[in-house]
Amino acid sequence: MGKDSNKVKLRIEPMGKERIVNKGTPLKDILFEYGVEFPCGGQGYCGGCRVKLLAGDVKDPEKHKELNYKLGLEPNYRLACQSEIVEDLTLEIPQLESIILADSTEFKFEPREGFGIAVDVGTTTLVAQLIDLSNGKLLDIRTARNPQARFGADIMNRVQYALTEKGRNQLMRLIREKIYHLIVGLLRDKDVELKKVVMVGNTVMHHLFGGLDVEPLAMFPFEPEHKESLHYTPSELGWNLPESVQIIFVRPIGGFVGSDIYAGIIASGMDKNPNLTALIDLGTNGEIVVGNKDKMFCASTAAGPAFEGAVIHKGMSAMSGAISSVSLNNSHIEYHVIGNQKALGICGSGLIDAVAVFLEKGLIDAGGAQVNDEQPLMISENVYLTQKDVREFQLAKAALAAGMQILVNKLGKSLTDITRVYIAGGFGNFINLENVKKLGMIEVCEYKILKLGNSALIGAKMLLFTDDYDFENTLSKIEHVSLDANVNFQDIFVEKMFFHNFITEK
Ligand code: FES
Repeated sequence: MGKDSNKVKLRIEPMGKERIVNKGTPLKDILFEYGVEFPCGGQGYCGGCRVKLLAGDVKDPEKHKELNYKLGLEPNYRLACQSEIVEDLTLEIPQLESIILADSTEFKFEPREGFGIAVDVGTTTLVAQLIDLSNGKLLDIRTARNPQARFGADIMNRVQYALTEKGRNQLMRLIREKIYHLIVGLLRDKDVELKKVVMVGNTVMHHLFGGLDVEPLAMFPFEPEHKESLHYTPSELGWNLPESVQIIFVRPIGGFVGSDIYAGIIASGMDKNPNLTALIDLGTNGEIVVGNKDKMFCASTAAGPAFEGAVIHKGMSAMSGAISSVSLNNSHIEYHVIGNQKALGICGSGLIDAVAVFLEKGLIDAGGAQVNDEQPLMISENVYLTQKDVREFQLAKAALAAGMQILVNKLGKSLTDITRVYIAGGFGNFINLENVKKLGMIEVCEYKILKLGNSALIGAKMLLFTDDYDFENTLSKIEHVSLDANVNFQDIFVEKMFFHNFITEK
């Protein structure tokens, strides 16, 4: 069979990974899966996503020459966030080989002997990275879908499934096997002495890995009974590794605020910052933390499912075929599909843009109602929003905005006192901040919002350099707030449902 003229080969060094991809695929779509982070959110001004060309070139080398000149980069570098793959390409990714923390925050660590593996145990995706503890260098990465997803994309479905002993054991076995598989892949053909494996994840992932009773997580007030870090030896997990390897799943903070958020707090440095800052993870539970080095309040909101596509008619997660951005060009709708292929559905970042575009076009009013039932909210020929989708979006954005307001109120501050909002999570990397602000999802000035990338993984890497997995000192400053129990929640929530920044023309 001849070569498909629409396909090209991408080789990624230093990992030696090869992929066949569609011509025209943005490099960002692919590299994100390997844990490459985009410090300025892919806007082309930080240079943090630079890659070195070893063979072939990306689309429009002339544009890149100008960018390189502005950023002082050598001519053989390209910014991944600005690159499209148009021919066979071999790249070297400096970020993967030399730097532990991809944003501009300096992470100081005490070098140690041996090697460590940091794992972000996400509801949808698992990412594991092998780190040289003597210098913080990243040696290899493995990613996989969370195999539990077949028992429900939504985390509550998994909790329901794990309520029986059989279900609990099955989900435990699946996640343990998959993570072991990633570890074996990372260690294959390498002569390294593994010292520890540190996992972070939300409270449900923590419980499912540990085979713990999830019943308290299935009902109000959703408070876990087990709030300790889980420590294992390899033989306890049936993992064929030297018995001296320490294996830790880091403890959650509270109900639905897991160690992934704790990892985000330390990755953002908000636990050391005297100014008021906030961390928002738009992943499954829509967690929010607001505070400074002395006091932090955290909460989880019901924002996640809509942004992850779970309750949206044509919703899907941010993978090939998902519309990830939508914009208006002279009142004409334009959109981008991940993987440069036919649109199959829409993911969270696309949903945010689509709602903003339909508000802009006057097809939705400021209360969220579809103005004309006869005029469907079409994005591509087969992907559209329904009135119910818009309502789901409103519920999610109101939950997020109300949660933030309540936490700020509890600190006796106002939203304008916030000096920085860090957006965590993979999905956060792709969102359009202008729309986030205009839609009232995050009510602080756009310039104060910084995308952190996979902060859970960054924090997990930092945790490889500690021995204190109880964090009593930091945890004593973090207070978990149950939003449902707050007497003002309903009023604030209803108020935040509106799109005040859009006035629909009649
Ligand atoms: S230049 Fe900042 S992410 Fe690409």
